Amino acid sequence: MSTTDTTTEGIRYTGSKREIIPKILALIQEHCPDVKTILDGCAGTTRVSQALRKNGFAVTANDLAEYTQTFGRCYLQNTKPATHYQPWIDQLNNLDGESGWFTKHYGGVITTPDKENAVQSDGKKRPWQVHNTQKLDAILTKIPQFTSDPIEKSVLLTSAILAMDKVDNTMGHQVAYLKKWPKRSYDPIHLVVPSLIPTGKPCQISQRSIFDIPEYYDLIYLDPPYGTNNQKTKTTRVRYRSYYHLWTTVCRNDQPTLHGAALRRQDASSDGLPGAISVFENTNHQIVFEATKKLIAQLNCKYVLFSYGNKSKLSEADLREIFNEYKVLAFSIFDHKENAMKSATTNAEWLGDQTKYQEFLILVEKDVSTSKA
Ligand SMILES: C[S@@+](CC[C@H](N)C(=O)[O-])C[C@H]1O[C@@H](n2cnc3c(N)ncnc32)[C@H](O)[C@@H]1O
Repeated sequence: MSTTDTTTEGIRYTGSKREIIPKILALIQEHCPDVKTILDGCAGTTRVSQALRKNGFAVTANDLAEYTQTFGRCYLQNTKPATHYQPWIDQLNNLDGESGWFTKHYGGVITTPDKENAVQSDGKKRPWQVHNTQKLDAILTKIPQFTSDPIEKSVLLTSAILAMDKVDNTMGHQVAYLKKWPKRSYDPIHLVVPSLIPTGKPCQISQRSIFDIPEYYDLIYLDPPYGTNNQKTKTTRVRYRSYYHLWTTVCRNDQPTLHGAALRRQDASSDGLPGAISVFENTNHQIVFEATKKLIAQLNCKYVLFSYGNKSKLSEADLREIFNEYKVLAFSIFDHKENAMKSATTNAEWLGDQTKYQEFLILVEKDVSTSKA
């Protein structure tokens, strides 16, 4: 591979791998020259999948989340140029707002002389100001009038989601909204054509649990939820289904029953509901450990590349125990903020830096004689 293009696009997302994409590509290029097909098993924003597609791989982006399917169709499966979409995007930008379902439930107004106060007359806060939910309502009505093609619809929806993400009233997740409208929430949304990748190897999308994927890939990249190792606040782990429920609802436009202060979808409102919590988000260390160990063993691939954070459920010792069963090609730790890579080869070296937020990147080769399709 001559040049490496690592630019990607996506929503703000906890655990996004935007910053370490160059390291991911470098590891694959250095250690796995025979790789052609890659499964991005917990693809989230699809940023890693986008970079892999740009660099010549046939990618399958998989995630439980609905929005990953939308982003995947937009960035991985679209073959039309930006000019095909520009006239539609222009029309969406010129629409008059209309008060529909999103406005009724998620549009906040200025209710008091204090123009920054986002608390509404019912005591709840809202994720957007009403002028933007009105635009969103109009856009969601209009898109199906333009096209019924799932890929074209996904490109337009992605554009709308990226625009709404820029004007929200959140700290980056959707389980609580801010008391004071931030500056950005006053801005009107402006849609642009997403940064499409219209050429490359054919790519796929899939919406299954990573535990249910039997197909063979040369390499499987796994970036699961990290849970938390904080003993005092065990429940502060990121629960993706609940953290990004608004994007699920925008993609489905299914007007779900809402629940609680953040007006979450009923199906994302409680940890007790079936499928609401991924096994990686479980608070029980042993459950996460056993599930991860079993998963790596059952993955049908030659190489596994695994991302994980240091302030997470599984410790470095756990990860070494799981991955030492295979041929370890790289066991790296990145300083995530400074994005500087260094290798931690001993526990002592690693423990010395424990206050920093760091990220593991582990590459192993499996015994292909037992896994090839
Ligand atoms: C750390 S994030 C991935 C971020 C992604 N690499 C990016 O750069 O945007 C973890 C993802 O795992 C997904 N997930 C959780 N449990 C899963 C499962 N059992 N199968 C597939 N995906 C799962 C979540 O929906 C979430 O998008």
